Amino acid sequence: MIIDLEPFQKLIKQRCGLILEGIDEEKLATVLAQRITVTRLSNSAEYYLHLQGSSDEFQDLVNLLTINETYFFREVEQLRLLTERLVPRLLMQREDNQPLRILSAGCSTGEEPYSLVMALREKYGDDVSSLFSFTGGDIDTQALAKARSGCYNEFSFRGVAEDIKARYFDHDDWVYRLKDEIRNQVEFHEMNLFADEFPAALYDCDIIFFRNVSIYFDTPTRRIIQQNLASLLNDNGYLMIGTAETIANDLGVLPLVEEDGLFYFSKGQHPAFVPATASPFDFSRHVVSKVAAQEHVSTECYSTPVVSSLPIPECVESTVASPAPCFSIDEVQQQCSAKRYDEAMAMIVVLLERNPGDVSALLLKAHIQLNRKEFELAETSARQALQTDPWSIDAFVLLGLAAKWRELIGEAVRWFKQAVYARHECWLARYYLAELYRAGGEPDKARREYRAVLQLLSQSTVPDNGIRVLPLEVVHSELRFLCAHQLAKLGDQQRMVGRK
Ligand SMILES: C[S@@+](CC[C@H](N)C(=O)[O-])C[C@H]1O[C@@H](n2cnc3c(N)ncnc32)[C@H](O)[C@@H]1O
Repeated sequence: MIIDLEPFQKLIKQRCGLILEGIDEEKLATVLAQRITVTRLSNSAEYYLHLQGSSDEFQDLVNLLTINETYFFREVEQLRLLTERLVPRLLMQREDNQPLRILSAGCSTGEEPYSLVMALREKYGDDVSSLFSFTGGDIDTQALAKARSGCYNEFSFRGVAEDIKARYFDHDDWVYRLKDEIRNQVEFHEMNLFADEFPAALYDCDIIFFRNVSIYFDTPTRRIIQQNLASLLNDNGYLMIGTAETIANDLGVLPLVEEDGLFYFSKGQHPAFVPATASPFDFSRHVVSKVAAQEHVSTECYSTPVVSSLPIPECVESTVASPAPCFSIDEVQQQCSAKRYDEAMAMIVVLLERNPGDVSALLLKAHIQLNRKEFELAETSARQALQTDPWSIDAFVLLGLAAKWRELIGEAVRWFKQAVYARHECWLARYYLAELYRAGGEPDKARREYRAVLQLLSQSTVPDNGIRVLPLEVVHSELRFLCAHQLAKLGDQQRMVGRK
């Protein structure tokens, strides 16, 4: 059945903001064909008229189009920020004894709001029910029905530790049933983020989690939705957005705040710093990292001066490019690690001939160019990689380094910050930021970044720093030592200034 998708795309965008273009068009066509069959209408024009007049049909269609991917304790560091910083601060500021109101907007099948309950219960015990009220809202009524049921399978647990599962779920066969003490804490409501009005129960929130939803909207829609969410927030309320979505949502609606290396939006003035409470709930013990610890990550020019190397012989391209290659990007990485740049570059040329947008090949090319002090060329290659993967941490770090070596300090800071925006655990970018701040006479900022690196590298499982392709040779213990050393020196300097 041939269906003209455009009127449907327009209607869906107009009513709920969802953009269904590019690869999503195939799904839209399949779902429309399915609904035309189910409703026994003869063609898409008839179905369109039916859809316009029937809110039930529109709901059925939307339920089939939403993407409900979610899991318990997703982006766990944001939950730690909630329990250790935001909540204690809001509780302290509270003038009445009303519960703090927490909303998960776009809550899908409920894993997010229930994770918030469990995280706060770990800290506040039974007081959770009097201290907080939790609400979940989503446009997808089927997802909400599943959320209310509180029944899950293994897919909702990506690394949640067994003791948490045992504490809060009853398990039989394939089903994990959430215990009533958690399930009864959350109220679920239908909610269209793009609507003009919201159910009364969703207003006056102190904290809104709005994570992994904005990616389905374009910028003007995101702005409208953020204005809507701001209207649901109390003064001094917080809006928490997924880490990777921060930049795309920094639209001037609410001010962006950085705290503990994480970002959120704050409706009121950024309140005074509240120190972490005595015994924070250590989520890292409860969520098993998916990324294995790498005590030793390979790298080279990143902390030591760049060593210049021989130019690529002119013959390399023509000799190696002709026959079909039988090597993988891993082998190119190995050549780079061994600093056999000519050989590596020859392989890269072949890979790029076959696929000019090959991100890994472009990044390794930029890495080699950087090591050869060809800074502008390195920058060009890294920018080409960003065209295919706009969130490549490797590219942000490479661009930061290229700028740093050219002494374009402001630019270097911007690129490293971009890496940290996209992945706050990027300790490598944080280390360079610290170094730049220290050299630029900004000791407070330098201290903050050195501390962040120390904190990240001191965890039993060092977090994934987001670097995917670049061969690094950083020994964590050495970097920790360097940070501690610089912190001590910065402390000394401060005391000397104090004595003057
Ligand atoms: C990928 S899930 C995110 C779930 C959860 N917040 C998380 O981070 O794991 C996105 C959810 O946004 C919901 N959504 C999409 N458009 C919406 C809209 N206009 N109003 C409310 N919810 C919407 C979808 O139904 C889906 O359940």
